Amino acid sequence: MKIPGYGSILPLCFASVQAITWTATPFNPPSIPLAVRTPYLSAWLPQGSGAALNDAWPTFWTGSILGWAGFVKVDGQAYSFLGTPNVPGTTFNKAVQKSSQFTSTQSIFVLSAGPVDITVTFLSPVEATDLVKQSTPFAYMAVSAVSTNGAAHSVQVYSDISAEWVSGNNALLAKWSTSTGAILTHEVQLQSPAVFTEINDHTQYGSAFYSTTNTVGATYQTGADVTVRAQFINNGRLPNTQDTAFRAIQDNWPVFGFSHDLGSVTGASAPVVFSVGHIRDPAIKYIVAGGGTQSRSLYFWSQFQTSAALISSFLGDFSNALSRAKAFDAKVNTDATRISTDYASVVALSIRQSLGAMEVTISKNSNGSWNTADVIVFMKEISSDGNMNTVDVIFPAWPVLLYTNPLLGKYLLEGLFRYQASGLYPNKWSVHDLGSSYPNALGHNDGRDEAMPVEESGNMVIMALSYAQKTGDKSHLTQYNALLDQWTQFLITDSLIPGDQLSTDDFAGHLVNQTNLAIKGIIGIKAMSQIASLVGDTTRSNNYSTIAANYVSRWQTLSASSSGNHLTLQYGNAASWGLSYNLYADKLLKLNLFPASVYDMQTAWYKTVRQPFGVPLDTRHTYTKTDWQIWTAGIVTDTTTRDFFISSVKKWASDGLSSQPFGDWYETTNGAPEGFRARPVVGGHLALLIL
Ligand SMILES: *[C@@H]1O[C@H](CO)[C@@H](O)[C@H](O)[C@H]1NC(C)=O
Ligand SMILES: *[C@@H]1O[C@H](CO)[C@@H](O)[C@H](O)[C@H]1NC(C)=O
Ligand SMILES: *[C@@H]1O[C@H](CO)[C@@H](O)[C@H](O)[C@H]1NC(C)=O
Repeated sequence: MKIPGYGSILPLCFASVQAITWTATPFNPPSIPLAVRTPYLSAWLPQGSGAALNDAWPTFWTGSILGWAGFVKVDGQAYSFLGTPNVPGTTFNKAVQKSSQFTSTQSIFVLSAGPVDITVTFLSPVEATDLVKQSTPFAYMAVSAVSTNGAAHSVQVYSDISAEWVSGNNALLAKWSTSTGAILTHEVQLQSPAVFTEINDHTQYGSAFYSTTNTVGATYQTGADVTVRAQFINNGRLPNTQDTAFRAIQDNWPVFGFSHDLGSVTGASAPVVFSVGHIRDPAIKYIVAGGGTQSRSLYFWSQFQTSAALISSFLGDFSNALSRAKAFDAKVNTDATRISTDYASVVALSIRQSLGAMEVTISKNSNGSWNTADVIVFMKEISSDGNMNTVDVIFPAWPVLLYTNPLLGKYLLEGLFRYQASGLYPNKWSVHDLGSSYPNALGHNDGRDEAMPVEESGNMVIMALSYAQKTGDKSHLTQYNALLDQWTQFLITDSLIPGDQLSTDDFAGHLVNQTNLAIKGIIGIKAMSQIASLVGDTTRSNNYSTIAANYVSRWQTLSASSSGNHLTLQYGNAASWGLSYNLYADKLLKLNLFPASVYDMQTAWYKTVRQPFGVPLDTRHTYTKTDWQIWTAGIVTDTTTRDFFISSVKKWASDGLSSQPFGDWYETTNGAPEGFRARPVVGGHLALLIL
């Protein structure tokens, strides 16, 4: 992790606060996911204290606008339902939002447009066990209508996207084309793409696609925003024309629109379905043994020759995808509601965001065919620094991987293992990340990555064992045994008395002798003991087990506060304390390494240091982390304390003080946001589902 570079530039709060006038289920979050599938397909509806679907523009996770507009006409009267378009010379009303709802995969809005209600469903599929579908960088928007007064009404639906979906710089020149046939597709690109490059976190190459099925009455148009939208508002249909005066994204804002005629609507209409997505190829540059690089592509290419074939399959699959999504949502909700309804709501808000930071890739064989035996998943450390496969970001996110598909976790670790097994990384501890800026996984051959030696070494050993325990697949344990042992040897030397270093909470600064870091290191040693046992090395297993047990008893003396009622943050600093979330791995791996008395003591202590919005991360500040609070909820020994942590995270997520995608870092005294948003670490909120 790293302190964000621009958190101070973007406004974190809405200045004016107004109560919502619709039903928000399960609550009104800081920002509602609309199309969230990859680091570059990440569209949200900022909320603050509440914004209807037609009160604000959808934004990229950074807060920059992504033009995405929607109108509906009912008996000739136009209503806006998506975005806040201004269309001079026309008259339209705003549809009135009646409800908003989010589940693990869907965000659903109902708005009334005169005598008709429309339901707008944004579906970002979570298909973790199907790598073709999980790697498909597309999301759906479905719109259906129903009469609310029993009478039939004439209904037409319109939507467009702008060229803001292809760059982080609206002064750049774009070009576009429309293809017709069974599917209508607008494709938008930069005129001068820059491969493997970002501007303001937006990718700078590839294409954005907006598509819909070419059913009877479907029409399209490309052109200036005011022109195309006015066409629909005035006529209820588009003229099937293209504007070929290619120009800058912000030059008379070209938009790419479709309309559908639903005809006469009484009962609920079949939905009209739009798909939005962004494809770039190759997706990732990855360092390989010898120091060269490899271009990697999204997994779906192994099944589809063209983007058109992918889009056709994706659109055609909508009703099945919706059924699968509903089943997944129901399973998550049932599992999480066993803990509490607050917990279920926090989990539902976390899953799309976490998986939306990842991409599943494959390479090519030397003869040019796809090599689906070579899968690596990449994760962007969104918002904090843009690093690739940051070990201490994968680690907090680990629960969502174990819950949805542990193989994704294996494939996330594979890139890290393979790079370090190449010998290109010089340090004896684990690397922090695979590359400083997504999507360039160029390693750190100079060894000067952000050093978190105990943190990352412990994380790698713990995750490797966790995956093998969950799946029975020992391949990483055998293939990368030497690396795992090397990191463990480092932990044996350096984790009982941790030197002055960063932990994952680097924003809090360096510290020597961190109690919680020592916990991680000692668990890592015990985990390697189990790994050694699993690969048949009994001698090593026994040795490391003895060392870990010895360290635990010494650690108990070192880490105790003189008052004897809590662990310290730092050895010898009696008044200090913190969230000892690293104990979670002792539970997850079922090691029973730390005595029950430690868990009981911490549980009792946290009751005494509560703030209105949770328990601070440690005594250096009053801010806290959502992921580490939920992990701590997983180690406390009574449900009251567990539920306090969970409800604190929900209280923050629903307090209306942020308009950014779910932030994992906030202030416990007043529930104000700190600089992180949209990060994959919220996958850690599933920690209680996998114990
Ligand atoms: C290409 O190479 C792969 C891996 O060596 C092999 O499995 C595949 O059959 C080859 N395909 C063709 C068309 O030669
Ligand atoms: C860290 O803790 C050890 C054990 O208590 C102690 O000997 C050492 O002086 C401490 N280091 C620092 C820099 O305080
Ligand atoms: C146990 O492991 C430590 C650390 O690698 C090593 O120094 C020690 O010699 C080992 N002891 C035995 C009995 O193998």
